[in-house]
Amino acid sequence: MTETHAFWLAGRQATGETTFDVTSPWDGSTVGAVSVPTDAQVEEAVAAAYAVRDEFAATPAHVRAAALDHVSKRLVERTEEIARLISAENGKPIKWARGEVGRAVSVFRFAAEEARRFNGGEAQRLDTDAGGQGRLALTRRFPKGVVLGIAPFNFPLNLCAHKVAPAIAVGTPIILKPAPATPLSGLILGELLVETELPAGSWSVLPVANDHMPQLVQDERLPVISFTGSDKVGYQIMDSVPRKHLTLELGGNGAAVVLADYASDEDLDWAATRIATFSNYQGGQSCISVQRVIVDESLHDRLLPRIVKAVESQVTGDPSDDKTDVGPLVSEDAAKRVESWVDEAVKAGAQLLAGGRREGASYAPTVLADVPADVTISCEEVFGPVLTVQKVSGEAEAFAAVNDSKYGLQAGVFTHDVQTAFRAHRALEVGGVIIGDVPSYRADQMPYGGAKQSGVGREGVRFAMDDYTYERVMVFTGIQL
Ligand code: SIN
Repeated sequence: MTETHAFWLAGRQATGETTFDVTSPWDGSTVGAVSVPTDAQVEEAVAAAYAVRDEFAATPAHVRAAALDHVSKRLVERTEEIARLISAENGKPIKWARGEVGRAVSVFRFAAEEARRFNGGEAQRLDTDAGGQGRLALTRRFPKGVVLGIAPFNFPLNLCAHKVAPAIAVGTPIILKPAPATPLSGLILGELLVETELPAGSWSVLPVANDHMPQLVQDERLPVISFTGSDKVGYQIMDSVPRKHLTLELGGNGAAVVLADYASDEDLDWAATRIATFSNYQGGQSCISVQRVIVDESLHDRLLPRIVKAVESQVTGDPSDDKTDVGPLVSEDAAKRVESWVDEAVKAGAQLLAGGRREGASYAPTVLADVPADVTISCEEVFGPVLTVQKVSGEAEAFAAVNDSKYGLQAGVFTHDVQTAFRAHRALEVGGVIIGDVPSYRADQMPYGGAKQSGVGREGVRFAMDDYTYERVMVFTGIQL
């Protein structure tokens, strides 16, 4: 008998009138059923969040920090169970799912630490000019309002954590909407939050159907929207509510650049291993997975066979098996789309050096070379286990190739030269430059977000806290400074 999971309405469990099934992309089995909130229940959650916003903003930092610490500790205690759930609903290999829980542990821990030190305030003397004599300015940050967090399927726990934890840290209510394919990991957070002293109404987890989202997005009681997902949906949101505060974490087609000085056998083995691993982790379904390898011509013939070998040694199969590196994509449709993009590239003249096969929702780790610039896979985010290799001549051409994209999330640059690193930092139109590694490196306290069409705003705990709040200055008059 399939278990039906309740949702979380203003801090308590509730069920609606309908349910939908969550199925494993690996074997199609039912992982659970999820109750869907009615429109009246969604309204109740929004009204409760709106009503509690002043009380929540005034909650002492120690109360919010204690709640965040509690969630972090409970995630540690329940790691294996939650990792199994992520793996079942998402198809993510269990070893990567465990890593994801570990990251969420850190996100809540960082948020607890930041909650304690946030908003210490800054004092500024204003008697620098005659008109400001006897005046002092004090600046503190206050929440912009209730946050609507819309999370994607690819990191179904940690990207929910990145929306929820900063909201609690600054004392702003949040309505979280997990992805329809993977709602169970987001709902688990409710089981941990309900054990805390946070005010009722300060958080809800609502698996609202996508076709009901436009109404929620338009709701004026929710002035802040934090969305992670496709650029198409992100820009639809932006166009529909241009006056709201938006954080949009959209796509990317991460580039890994291997420059001429990265030339020893050891260097190339490291680069190839990292590239192969991180073009395929979560089946390539990460906005910062390696999609484009840009290699200096002096290294190309030594690096390419290493990459092909490392990609072919990725272990594919059952995501619940500890040995599996690459599981299925989120759905058979997703795998068919990847297949069609690879087929298009091959028909247009690209060389298929590894992979290129689909079985159900699984797509084999794939390497393409000599890919024409105008095919879909050269222009769009593949979000699948496919990488392309491009030969360039020198650093300037390599950096230009990275920037030759509508996206700009992160880039990796394999070099040992610190001057080159600084030039890359200046030249690359991305939100993050990773030196000596792939673009896929993300520590959860770092600012994370894109340039160009990869989005606006930043996550990374403190940066999201800044994003959810604004500065309000208070001027004292008649002070002896
Ligand atoms: C993403 O796909 O944008 C998230 C990547 C990550 O958190 O590692």
